[in-house]
Amino acid sequence: MATVTLHTVRGDEDSGRREETYEVPYREGMSLLDAIFWIREHQDASFAVRYSCRSANACKECMALIDGKAGFLCSVRAVPETAVRLEPLPTMAWIKDLATALE
Ligand code: FES
Repeated sequence: MATVTLHTVRGDEDSGRREETYEVPYREGMSLLDAIFWIREHQDASFAVRYSCRSANACKECMALIDGKAGFLCSVRAVPETAVRLEPLPTMAWIKDLATALE
């Protein structure tokens, strides 16, 4: 089965920043947000990510750094057999994992 590798930043201001890597089964058309939902359902329900519209690209809440560039996790497609690095936005107050304050 094809997988997607997610290198992610976890933690918060109190616990500190650490790196975690996940291998997620690839599904046709899945977004990076879908991959994080898989992690939450199968590996770690505490993984924090902000979202609201979940793919309508309307709420703008799922913005994170994707391979160093700001983008929406729900609109960037996962690519099978590749690795992607996900980090919280550095320009917003960090809440936990990939979740940052909205302003
Ligand atoms: S979840 Fe709303 S834009 Fe991504």
